[in-house]
Amino acid sequence: MGVPLNLKAEALTSTPSRNGAHPEGDIGERLKRAAFAGPYRIALLVNLARNAPPVYRPIVPPDLWAELDSDKNVAAYARALEEAGHEVLIQEGNAHLAAWLEDHRPDLCFNTCEGFGGDSREAQVPALLEMIGARYSGPAPLAAAITQDKPTTKRILHFYGLPTPPFQVFETADDDLDPQLAFPLFVKPAHEGTGMGVHNESVVHNERQLRDRVAWCVEAYQQPALVETYIEGRDITCGLVGNGNAVHIFPITEVDFSGYPPELLPIYGSLQKIDYDHLYRNKCPAPLSEKLAQAVRRLTHQTFLITGCRDFARVDFRLDAQDRLFILEINGLPGIAPRSDLTLMAQAEGWTHGDLVRAVLGAALLRYGMA
Ligand SMILES: Nc1ncnc2c1ncn2[C@@H]1O[C@H](COP(=O)(O)OP(=O)(O)O)[C@@H](O)[C@H]1O
Ligand SMILES: [Mg+2]
Repeated sequence: MGVPLNLKAEALTSTPSRNGAHPEGDIGERLKRAAFAGPYRIALLVNLARNAPPVYRPIVPPDLWAELDSDKNVAAYARALEEAGHEVLIQEGNAHLAAWLEDHRPDLCFNTCEGFGGDSREAQVPALLEMIGARYSGPAPLAAAITQDKPTTKRILHFYGLPTPPFQVFETADDDLDPQLAFPLFVKPAHEGTGMGVHNESVVHNERQLRDRVAWCVEAYQQPALVETYIEGRDITCGLVGNGNAVHIFPITEVDFSGYPPELLPIYGSLQKIDYDHLYRNKCPAPLSEKLAQAVRRLTHQTFLITGCRDFARVDFRLDAQDRLFILEINGLPGIAPRSDLTLMAQAEGWTHGDLVRAVLGAALLRYGMA
């Protein structure tokens, strides 16, 4: 375990400095500047909540479309791209996309499509783009599918010896419980995001609660449940833009749970992320020792590399009372809406929302040799 196969030793041992001190200069500034190459015709690919298909199931959880975008967010992405001089065409990332691309022939697609369903929903648009040879920002299908599925990500982390909570995947509520897993445990859908299916009841203290919650999770989200050791502690997240070793890492963020209703456990679930979004407070930069901050940045970068992500990503952690870090997941297509975590961390160091969107575009343009 822990043998860094296929990874440059440098990538596993180096810790990119916070401000991108790199032989090629400040990476963040370089990415932002690269967005002004061209001008290009950019297809802004989106999945709007108002275009979500109807759902015919007995349980339809209220957060089912939590990942999908609003017209307001889409207008903000478009504005950021237009400010760099590009022509922007907005298009829904659906089954008509291939024909639309044939008609409009953009130079590059700026992909924000979370997908409407399926165990690799974020991989669907990249797969189509790859099939027709279009250039696009964000992860390719394999990385999108890997990072969409938390158990698959965790198996890869485990292979490389990176810390993640012990876990078991439950296909049904009747699966045998691995005797090595000790309560309290945490139950969440295997391949969702934005706190979907994460509530107080995700923390289970006995087998009856576990099986009830797994049953609900499987039924409501039509997918396996990921059961992990519950890590009591702090919620930490760290984001980056760029590629390979030329990445810019944003200030680390800690969720501040003190502003939420007291009956809510300190977990960043769907109530906190959606219903009580207006109560959200964070600490950015998170109050961490330099040693821990370095470890968070190193693990973020390593997770980005081993999962094959591109252009941007955000890695979520829990930090326990003994200062042990556990990687929960990597978001290969993290939210970049004006109020998303990644935006807030970029703003904490003086970037605008437009700067962040353009840095992602710049990373993609540099990757394709277009800037
Ligand atoms: N094993 C765990 N122990 C403690 N809290 C957890 C665990 N897994 C998830 N959480 C809580 O649930 C939140 C959402 O989990 P995460 O895996 O990041 O899924 P999502 O894709 O919904 O963001 C985390 O930010 C954390 O607060
Ligand atoms: Mg998360």
